Amino acid sequence: MKYVLSLLIVLSAAAVATAGYRETFEKEFLSKPWAGGPIVEKSACIECHTSDMMKASFRGIPDEWQGSWHALNEVSCHDCHGGDPKDPSMAMSHVRGFVGKPNYEDVPEFCGKCHIGIMKNYLESGHGRALKATRKGPNCVTCHGSHGIQRASIDIINEQLCTRCHSYERAKTMKQALFLTEKRMGEIGKELNELRGEGIFVGDEEKTLFSTQAEFRALFHTVDVSLVKKSTDEFTKRLDGIEKNVRKTSAELRIRRNFSAFLTFVFAGLAIIVGMLARTYKDKD
Ligand code: HEC
Ligand code: HEC
Ligand code: HEC
Ligand code: HEC
Ligand code: HEC
Repeated sequence: MKYVLSLLIVLSAAAVATAGYRETFEKEFLSKPWAGGPIVEKSACIECHTSDMMKASFRGIPDEWQGSWHALNEVSCHDCHGGDPKDPSMAMSHVRGFVGKPNYEDVPEFCGKCHIGIMKNYLESGHGRALKATRKGPNCVTCHGSHGIQRASIDIINEQLCTRCHSYERAKTMKQALFLTEKRMGEIGKELNELRGEGIFVGDEEKTLFSTQAEFRALFHTVDVSLVKKSTDEFTKRLDGIEKNVRKTSAELRIRRNFSAFLTFVFAGLAIIVGMLARTYKDKD
């Protein structure tokens, strides 16, 4: 009997821990290659472009790329420039799809083969139309850079960059229009991170937040302040929905924790009583 009771205690503790274990397992093993860590294949582009033969002004490019968000997500030279990274002699052949360096006004399509929604909004915007008509609008690289691209945020909207072509006034009203929604998305992201850290599965909410965020940031590229303001209500509603689920999950977690603490307490008490009773009977024998 004593054995059964201690087993029960162990099992009730294990049930609480499994959620965390499963999450960790999925994160550590199922989403990554089995060798552990990203598989970095040799790229002829990088080998040759870092060699001493390369002209000095180009030689730093692979290093700059190495520190970028694209490198972390395994978007490499040939994913943007085309060509064949496995065959040094044919690497930059047009036959292998090499497109080289894009012209200033062709950059949106160059990036837009992957960032489709953003390109669409951008091309219809004042910026996109000015780029195509007179090459006076900023292209993607003007604001994001090309090889050292980092994760985007509203900090990109700053006086130094945005006053290169016009007053800061219109940039500032745009930044103000984005601010509250961006702040809220950041806060919900933080709450989700904390829950994940506790071993709670929040994948569905994370996915919804990610797609909401992507849609909102694509909206910026219209540079249409009144459209951003008009859409803010709808985004607020969607974020309310995610937050409601997050709150519910947190509350459930608290109840579950209290209940398992209560169970452990009861079982421990029982174990002590049974132990004492058993000894009492033994003493009598
Ligand atoms: C064997 C060496 C070698 C390999 C391999 C190589 N490159 Fe190059 N690359 C060069 C040289 C040399 C230049 C010209 C530099 C100059 O202008 O003097 C160049 C230029 C470029 C340019 C600028 C071209 C332009 O239109 O101005 C790009 C972009 C580029 N390489 C990308 C790549 C990519 C992507 C790969 C892999 C698919 C690659 N390279 C593989 C040697 C190489
Ligand atoms: C995210 C897409 C992207 C990736 C990844 C990328 N490039 Fe580029 N690259 C560009 C763009 C856009 C330009 C043109 C604008 C500029 O010069 O900044 C460019 C320009 C260049 C040039 C010409 C620079 C000049 O001053 O004329 C070279 C050379 C080059 N890239 C090589 C590489 C190599 C090598 C890699 C891999 C280590 C790489 N690129 C990865 C987007 C990319
Ligand atoms: C081959 C596909 C591809 C091309 C071409 C490409 N990207 Fe990306 N980009 C990605 C992927 C994949 C990610 C990482 C996933 C994510 O963060 O959305 C990313 C992420 C980004 C981010 C960070 C997004 C964030 O989460 O904050 C920016 C900014 C960006 N790219 C800009 C550019 C620009 C500018 C160009 C052109 C010079 C470009 N990309 C070309 C695939 C591409
Ligand atoms: C390379 C030049 C250039 C840079 C840099 C630039 N803009 Fe613009 N911007 C333009 C041009 C050109 C227009 C359209 C013509 C006009 O209205 O003057 C424009 C228009 C705008 C508009 C009004 C759009 C409309 O439909 O009414 C906003 C808002 C704007 N820019 C915001 C920004 C922000 C924010 C930044 C900095 C992140 C920025 N711009 C950086 C050139 C630039
Ligand atoms: C006038 C400056 C400007 C130009 C031009 C511009 N962007 Fe952005 N981009 C931004 C800013 C600012 C943000 C962040 C908006 C936010 O946080 O709400 C952003 C966000 C992004 C993101 C992140 C989206 C996400 O889901 O997190 C990507 C990817 C991106 N831009 C790609 C591009 C591409 C591709 C182009 C060209 C077609 C482009 N940008 C042109 C300023 C610019």
